[in-house]
Amino acid sequence: MGCLFSCLDKNKDLSDRLLNKDGKRYESIDNTVEDDMDEFSKTGAKQIIVVNSSGVPSKKVSVEDFAFLKVLGKGSFGKVVMVEQRATRKIYAMKILRKDAIKKRNQKLHTKAERDILENMNSPFIVQMHYAFQSHNKLYLIMDFVNGGELFFHLRKERKFNENRARFYIAEIILALEHLHNKGVIYRDLKPENILMDSEGHIKICDFGLSKQGVEGDTKAYTFCGTPEYLAPEILKGVGHDKAVDYWSLGALLYEMLAGAPPFYSRDRNQMFKNILEKPVEMKAHFSPEACSILSGLLVVAPAKRLSNANEIKMHQFFRGVDWAKLAKRQLKPPFRPNVSGIKDLKYFDKMFTEESINETPMMKNMMAGVDNTFVGFTYDPRKFVYEESDEYATNSTNDLLSKDH
Ligand SMILES: Nc1ncnc2c1ncn2[C@@H]1O[C@H](COP(=O)(O)OP(=O)(O)O)[C@@H](O)[C@H]1O
Ligand SMILES: [Mg+2]
Repeated sequence: MGCLFSCLDKNKDLSDRLLNKDGKRYESIDNTVEDDMDEFSKTGAKQIIVVNSSGVPSKKVSVEDFAFLKVLGKGSFGKVVMVEQRATRKIYAMKILRKDAIKKRNQKLHTKAERDILENMNSPFIVQMHYAFQSHNKLYLIMDFVNGGELFFHLRKERKFNENRARFYIAEIILALEHLHNKGVIYRDLKPENILMDSEGHIKICDFGLSKQGVEGDTKAYTFCGTPEYLAPEILKGVGHDKAVDYWSLGALLYEMLAGAPPFYSRDRNQMFKNILEKPVEMKAHFSPEACSILSGLLVVAPAKRLSNANEIKMHQFFRGVDWAKLAKRQLKPPFRPNVSGIKDLKYFDKMFTEESINETPMMKNMMAGVDNTFVGFTYDPRKFVYEESDEYATNSTNDLLSKDH
């Protein structure tokens, strides 16, 4: 991870923020309680859906149709791998989710929502899913491979963005949120790690693992979930929430882009939650009056008083001069173009992942061995699923663990 984080030394607070947990990113949290409905395992190894948009053979798509090339990232339920579809030689991102981990953390409904949302959204600013299938113990989502890197990568490298650059990303994100909200979906995990940049420099939102469908009209959601630094006050209070939470997170994200750290950050999580609920947002001297104004409109504790209507936000003076119609067609020139030499260029991905030997990864052994309960049991060490500062999942090398198992 050295290359990614060496730039952080000058900002100790942020370095701590990044390194104190899993050495990389903030973890999402989710306190869902679900009953034991098991939609996925009921269908056994059968494929549950196929979304075929690329003229691939009509036989059911399965994991054998893809060659594993590189690990791109790891999350709480599995990993994301760059794969090549053998028949077409097309490159995709494959998100692999372990059913046991999902069940253990009561995430079945969220995983189902993730798949459904990916299938149903149709926006240039949302990553597109091409297939979804499952094996006995894993779920697979095949998506566009977006290779310009996470916004996280670029923001950490440059520490801050100027207002023009931030405005462009925030404006494209607003179009993504507007699309989701119009379809009754609240996103709930807006953060730099979940915003990908394509090879031209436009953004695409990924990771619908915490999203909620069917939130329309006066409906509210109640699950305590999100990522601490970007959590809206009404989620912390547990009073019910709606799409306005995404606009709170958007405010936190814009602040982070302009200031280099999120608005209410504290290493002490309880203090951070207190800050979110009580502390007035501190505007930096270099913020323009328009930026201060939109931040003060978005980071409002009372959701009813928050700027949370896309049309109203688009008219805000911070976006003066933005041609929204052109933006929606991806016709505005991005402020930065990633320097990638081709689809397989992984320079914007963390070497900690991409240099991992794919043959040694647990999922490959697991796949080759069929349903490997020993491995599954071993991997799901309870300590890995405790939501704590010391969450060990990502810090432990799963390869080390694996080698003890075989
Ligand atoms: N379609 C994609 N193209 C390229 N990289 C991706 C894609 N989807 C996910 N990733 C990478 O994998 C990481 C983890 O994926 P994500 O869906 O956010 O999983 P998690 O729910 O574990 O956070 C992302 O932060 C990103 O770096
Ligand atoms: Mg994520």
